[in-house]
Amino acid sequence: MILVTGATGHFGNAAINFLLEKGVPAKNLTALVRAKESAEQFTKRGIQTAVGDYDDYPSLVAAFKGVDHLLFVSGSDIGKRLLQHEHVVKAAVAAGVKHIVYTSFQRRNETETSPLWVVAQSHLQTEKWLKESGIAYTILKNNLYMDFVPAFVGEKVLETGVVYLPAKDGKVSAALRVELAEATAAILQTPSAHTNKVYDFTHSEAFTYQQVADLISAQTGKKIAYVSPSAEEYAQTLAKFGLPQDMIGVFTGFAVAQAVGELNVVSKDLENILGRKPTTIAEFLKSVYRA
Ligand SMILES: NC(=O)c1ccc[n+]([C@@H]2O[C@H](COP(=O)([O-])OP(=O)(O)OC[C@H]3O[C@@H](n4cnc5c(N)ncnc54)[C@H](OP(=O)(O)O)[C@@H]3O)[C@@H](O)[C@H]2O)c1
Repeated sequence: MILVTGATGHFGNAAINFLLEKGVPAKNLTALVRAKESAEQFTKRGIQTAVGDYDDYPSLVAAFKGVDHLLFVSGSDIGKRLLQHEHVVKAAVAAGVKHIVYTSFQRRNETETSPLWVVAQSHLQTEKWLKESGIAYTILKNNLYMDFVPAFVGEKVLETGVVYLPAKDGKVSAALRVELAEATAAILQTPSAHTNKVYDFTHSEAFTYQQVADLISAQTGKKIAYVSPSAEEYAQTLAKFGLPQDMIGVFTGFAVAQAVGELNVVSKDLENILGRKPTTIAEFLKSVYRA
């Protein structure tokens, strides 16, 4: 039995679809849902469901009974994530799970000086817990979802003609979320080949935001400039537009991380497991900004 957490979210749901596509029988799949009402979308396709919440340890122990392989999709509530992830790993041990595939994050700097520390802390600790758990693990160091590049670019880019982001000339090897999920499903299809492995789930090519601006220009025929302000100026500008402080922190942290090359890890791990070159930034931007 394979149990997928975060099944109602983008990543978990895509992973389930790929597992089915790859021939895993629906009856061998369990989707973890927080609310009973979310179960129907899975049960109508023959997929098992279990109700569990990362905040509720006993619910996880019950949900994980009889599970061989757990796709542990990291939680989305960064403030509560550390305790939630402790619950998941402990519950997996208590329930006798044999293998955990964990969606971690890409980085170079593993110290508090990292611009991504707010995100990093719980992932690094979870990796440690997994390695100490005695359960076979596969850790996926997922790079930035390429899907988020348009958010960094700004939704009004075609009106303003400017990509305004403090990413300097830093490179990022972002990959599409759906392809990260596809490769994750491939791992779960042949789990024994991937036990106790750590993969850089990242694109095999990195790009800068100058390239992003140039690609949008080429695609739309409109001249798009790239301006990299200081992180302080950027945060002040976002505040003027009324963005909440926590969002400003996340956007600025990711932009600065890209500026210093924190997400510039080029690897063939994703490409090898996918069995093809991942979608490039040029192909992705073409699909987004197609006239
Ligand atoms: N690499 C990147 O660029 C990047 C960007 C964003 C996020 N991430 C990480 O990747 C994960 C998956 O991404 P995504 O796009 O699939 O996120 P998403 O669409 O927001 O899905 C998050 C999933 O986690 C579930 N969840 C949240 N809190 C939970 C709890 N307390 N107990 C049980 N389930 C809970 C949600 O359930 P409900 O449907 O019930 O809310 C949902 O199924 C995120 O959670 C985050 O850790 C990575």
